[in-house]
Amino acid sequence: MDCITKVEEMLEGYTLNRLREVANKISYNYLNESGTGNSLINDELSAKVYASMRFPATYNACLSSLKYSLEYYNKDINTLIDIGSGTGATILAIDNLINLKEITAFEINDHMMGVGKTLTEDIAEKVNWHKLDITKDEISISADIVSVSYVLNELNPNDRIKVLDKIWEASKDLILIVDTGTPTGFSVVLEARNYLINKGGNVVAPCPHNDRCKSLWCHFVTRVNRSKLHKLIKEAEAPYEDEKYSFVCISKSFNDQCYSRVTRHPIIGKGHIELELCSKDKLEKIVVSKKDGEFYKKGRKLRAGDSFDERKSI
Ligand SMILES: C[S@@+](CC[C@H](N)C(=O)[O-])C[C@H]1O[C@@H](n2cnc3c(N)ncnc32)[C@H](O)[C@@H]1O
Repeated sequence: MDCITKVEEMLEGYTLNRLREVANKISYNYLNESGTGNSLINDELSAKVYASMRFPATYNACLSSLKYSLEYYNKDINTLIDIGSGTGATILAIDNLINLKEITAFEINDHMMGVGKTLTEDIAEKVNWHKLDITKDEISISADIVSVSYVLNELNPNDRIKVLDKIWEASKDLILIVDTGTPTGFSVVLEARNYLINKGGNVVAPCPHNDRCKSLWCHFVTRVNRSKLHKLIKEAEAPYEDEKYSFVCISKSFNDQCYSRVTRHPIIGKGHIELELCSKDKLEKIVVSKKDGEFYKKGRKLRAGDSFDERKSI
């Protein structure tokens, strides 16, 4: 059974009004309490409704972030530590791409852990769930990759730095951080990027360099199909939603990077394309015209987030 169906089953028997009420309370908490360190999900039903609202978007954002990262990373990855595992969306996305041997899921909230265990039951033999408060408890193990998705933004600034120190220690090589693609989410990812570079890390993606970031708001978008239940709870018409996310993948050892990355959806004009590219030394807008031949052909296929290794200068 797929995860969306599992979440729908969890919510069977509740009236739509009740589900909307809970969804509104969750949205209120995320809007007003994020970044305070307060718990945003406080009962079992809220954890299930949270999964119905956020599982697909979190899964897609993590999947895309890791896909972009693996383009430039070719070492073996067998073990994962996921911090703030919640619904298990991050774990499932990473496992989908890598087929991990062993996964450790750390989560503070019993209600979220209950949902996460159910949604990851197909790979239960390799996932070990542990209750842990990442701001207070130590991580006593290490793994090839440590992921923290949609968690840092919930913590207060002092705790965020403590957590970055802990994940640096726990990672044998890779760290994947994903968060909301809002200006605040981006600033949290940027803070983590700079902090981990200072500790000796190299950016694997999305940046083509380890220097100062020149962007005011680097984020990407992934389109997520809305389930029937999601549309009903959110009172939404569109069959999909566009999830904005920011991410950074850091390696302790590997230092291959793309030449440049497309940071905005390209504007396709008549016989030309406008591209915004983050390159090794600058953030720039370039216009590529049909006359540029091969360069133009490649440019037409690009989407925001894609790497672009064409080195010809226009
Ligand atoms: C927005 S959810 C992210 C979900 C998750 N990464 C996923 O894949 O679905 C944030 C999760 O982090 C957990 N969390 C928040 N603070 C935490 C802490 N101090 N220690 C461990 N987990 C924490 C929350 O309980 C929640 O499950």
